[in-house]
Amino acid sequence: MNRLPVVFGSFLKWLWPGRRQHGGVLLLFFNAFTGACTFGSTPLRCLFGVMLAGVLSTGCGFAQPMQDDSTQILQHGELLFRRHCNACHSVHREVVGPMLASVTKKRSHAWLIRFISNSEQVIASGDAYARHLSDAYNNQVMPTFSMLSQQDIASILAYIEHESLVQVDETPVHDRITVKSDSSILRGRVLFRDQCSSCHFIHYEGRYAPALGSVSKRLPREWLIPFIQNSQKVVRSGDEYAEALFERYHRRVMVPMNFLTENDITDILNYIAYSSTSMVETVAPEERAHGPGVVTNTAADGEVPDQETRPTFSLQTTSWMLITLFVALTIIAVIGTAFAIKMLRSLWRKD
Ligand code: HEC
Ligand code: HEC
Repeated sequence: MNRLPVVFGSFLKWLWPGRRQHGGVLLLFFNAFTGACTFGSTPLRCLFGVMLAGVLSTGCGFAQPMQDDSTQILQHGELLFRRHCNACHSVHREVVGPMLASVTKKRSHAWLIRFISNSEQVIASGDAYARHLSDAYNNQVMPTFSMLSQQDIASILAYIEHESLVQVDETPVHDRITVKSDSSILRGRVLFRDQCSSCHFIHYEGRYAPALGSVSKRLPREWLIPFIQNSQKVVRSGDEYAEALFERYHRRVMVPMNFLTENDITDILNYIAYSSTSMVETVAPEERAHGPGVVTNTAADGEVPDQETRPTFSLQTTSWMLITLFVALTIIAVIGTAFAIKMLRSLWRKD
C-alpha cells in the first residue's frame, strides 16, 4: 500500500510524459469514478473508496521528479552555453565577446533572442545599440545560431541570469593593479571603490545594481559620462535604453555624482575595462557573503548585510506535504468519528 501512490503517479507520468495537468485531469475523473462506484454501498466500502482516492491523489505529487523544471532548464542552458558560447564568452569576464553578467536585465528578452539567433541581421537592420557593439568589438562577427530554437536560447538566458548572481573573488584583480598599473587605472580603482562599489561589482551582479564588466565597450562614452554624472536626468530625457534599465532595476535610483569630472569618469572606465578582462575565481558557496537570489533587506545605500543561506524549500514540495498531512488528518478524523458512533450505538443498545 505504501508504494501504491508513487507507482500510480509514475504510471500517469508514463502515460502522459511531461503533461502534469493531464495527469491531474485524469485523477479528477478517477476520483469521481471511485465516488460513483462507492455511492450507495455500505459506509465501510465508501470510506475505503475515499481513502484510496485520497492516497492516490497525493501519489501524483510524490511521483513528480525531484528536480523541478527550472533546474532542468538551467542545466540545459549551461550545456548549450558550454557548447556554443564558451569559446568567446564568459558570464564573469570579457573574452573575445563582452562579459555577459547582467545582460538579461540590460537588454530585452525579445532583443536577445533575435540577436543571438542572428546577430548580423540585427546589426544590418540599423539597430543603433548593435551597431555600436559591433564597432566596439572591431566588427568581429558572432556566428548565427539558427540551429538553436527560441526555447534553447531562453534556457541559455536563464543560465546567464542565474550565473550572473554567482559571487566571484574580485580582490586579486584589485591587488594586481598596484603592481602593474598605469596611473589612470590606479586612480580609477580608488574612485570606483569610494563612489561605486557600495552598489556595483564588476564581475557579477550585486543585489542592487548591474555588473559593470565590458560596459565601456558596450555603451558609447558620450552616453556613459552624462549617465554616471546624473542617471536620472538621462532617464527623464526619454533615453530608451536608460528608461528600460531603470524599470528592470525596479526604479532604484543611482545617486547623482555631478562632482565627478570627465577625467574622473575616464579613469573609472579605464579601471573597469582593465578589470573586465582579468581572470577571476568563483567563490565557494559556503564562503559567499550572501546567496544569489531575491533582495530582502537592502539598506538605502545599497549595502547588503551578511546573511546565512538556508536551503530553499520548493513551493511544490511544501504544498504536497500539506496535502498529504490534510488527507492523513481527514482519514484519522473519519475513522475516529465512525468508531465513536459505533461505540455510542452499542452503549445505546445496552440501555
Ligand atoms: C566567435 C565568437 C562568439 C561566439 C561563439 C558567440 N559570441 Fe556572442 N558575441 C561575440 C562578439 C564579438 C560580440 C560583440 C557584438 C558583435 O560584434 O556582434 C558578441 C555579443 C553578444 C551579446 C550582446 C552582449 C551585450 O552586451 O549586449 C550576447 C547577448 C551574446 N553575444 C550572446 C552569445 C551567446 C548566447 C552565444 C552562444 C549561443 C554566443 N554569444 C556566441 C562573439 C561570439
Ligand atoms: C546607490 C547605488 C549606486 C551607486 C553608488 C552607483 N550606481 Fe551605477 N547603477 C545603479 C543602479 C540601480 C543602476 C541601474 C540603472 C538605473 O537605476 O538607472 C545602475 C546602472 C549603472 C550603469 C549602466 C550599466 C549598463 O551596463 O547598462 C553604469 C555604467 C553605472 N551604473 C556606473 C556607475 C559608476 C561608474 C558608479 C560610481 C561612480 C556608480 N554606477 C555608482 C546603482 C548605483
